[in-house]
Amino acid sequence: MSIQSSAPSKRPVVVYGASGYTGRLVCEYLREFGIPFIAAGRSEQRLKDALASNVPGVETADYEVAVVEHTVEALTELFTGAQVVLNTVGPFSQYGPEVVQACLAAGTHYTDTTGEQDWLITCEEQYGAHFAAAGLLLAPGIAQMYTTGEIAAQICLEQPGLDTLDIAVFWGGSPTIASTRTILVNAATSVAHYLEQNSYVPFDPTQGLVPLVVPGQHELAQSLPWGGTSHPVWFKRDPRVATCKAQGGVFNAALMNGVPQIVAGALEATKDMDAEQRDEALTATAAQVMNQMPPRENPRLNKSLDSVHASGPLGRAHCVIHGNQNYKQTGLLQAFAAYSLLQQPPLRVGFASGCQAFGHRELLGQLRAFGLVAEPVVTRQAG
Ligand SMILES: NC(=O)c1ccc[n+]([C@@H]2O[C@H](COP(=O)([O-])OP(=O)(O)OC[C@H]3O[C@@H](n4cnc5c(N)ncnc54)[C@H](OP(=O)(O)O)[C@@H]3O)[C@@H](O)[C@H]2O)c1
Repeated sequence: MSIQSSAPSKRPVVVYGASGYTGRLVCEYLREFGIPFIAAGRSEQRLKDALASNVPGVETADYEVAVVEHTVEALTELFTGAQVVLNTVGPFSQYGPEVVQACLAAGTHYTDTTGEQDWLITCEEQYGAHFAAAGLLLAPGIAQMYTTGEIAAQICLEQPGLDTLDIAVFWGGSPTIASTRTILVNAATSVAHYLEQNSYVPFDPTQGLVPLVVPGQHELAQSLPWGGTSHPVWFKRDPRVATCKAQGGVFNAALMNGVPQIVAGALEATKDMDAEQRDEALTATAAQVMNQMPPRENPRLNKSLDSVHASGPLGRAHCVIHGNQNYKQTGLLQAFAAYSLLQQPPLRVGFASGCQAFGHRELLGQLRAFGLVAEPVVTRQAG
């Protein structure tokens, strides 16, 4: 089966950054959904190599490779005639604006894989109304971090009368090159917020590691605000929720113990630099932490845990989603977003989360169908 574009001459979906670890996985799942796509990026060789070596079954996919310059003009030309752009070129606060502007100019839906809170706020404030007016979806952050946790939160909120979300997001495995760079750039250039009574409140930057009780293990897990996460931004637009705080990190305690020192050292070393120098220095620091493509994920090693305690004056709910292969979850969620958008409009146009655009039960169903998460564990107390 193949989903056809309304303009048959053009493949309907563009994966921008298809040579990257996440982009390849998006291509893998687009193939499984039978969607023709354009694998776009800055290097023809890297794109061809990545698709040939890292996308199982690519010989049966309907795709082409496109090399494009990272400018609004070149991206607009590439996107024109397509319907959906799936962007995996991060850090998005740095590289996202050109892609979003090109989508608006070309009239395509936009999704990306960000977990950067400041980029979500920029998308909502600067571009959301323009996308809504054009009847287009602007959905940054359709990715394991933080859509899977959002699904858990939405399951809790199926019970009326809950207004506070306490969220923990953990994963096992190694971050990719761009993920490492994104964590550092984000820490250096933006403030992490949580939501308290519908207003953003900055985390105390000196807070450091906080041990959390997380389901499924006896040992406490070390957590950080992790840039504030996407949840406070998404739930600021939800009339059911007034307060939302998320923390998390990686299960690897040694790595977590090292993160505050790495970030503090990078901040100190770059504090007097201009934006360009700082970017170079942070890229170099990130490369010292991670300079190679991690191996293909293994469900026995690469695990995810999303736990949400929701509470209200007289009720409580707790939802835990144990999953595996975080980057595969991201690839699947992105591909399903495209599959859905090619067939029907999203539930909400303009700025929206994955759950707001496609429905949390539907996204959970996809993750379950592909074996990437277990059935959520839900406990409730209604007053
Ligand atoms: N929230 C989540 O759960 C989640 C999950 C997955 C990924 N992410 C985010 O998604 C982003 C991508 O991650 P990844 O794992 O795919 O990283 P990656 O393997 O390092 O891939 C990065 C991609 O971006 C391209 N790129 C980098 N700089 C570029 C530039 N200046 N112009 C054009 N293209 C450029 C790379 O192209 P070349 O091959 O030519 O270098 C590559 O295709 C990161 O920001 C990461 O944090 C988030």
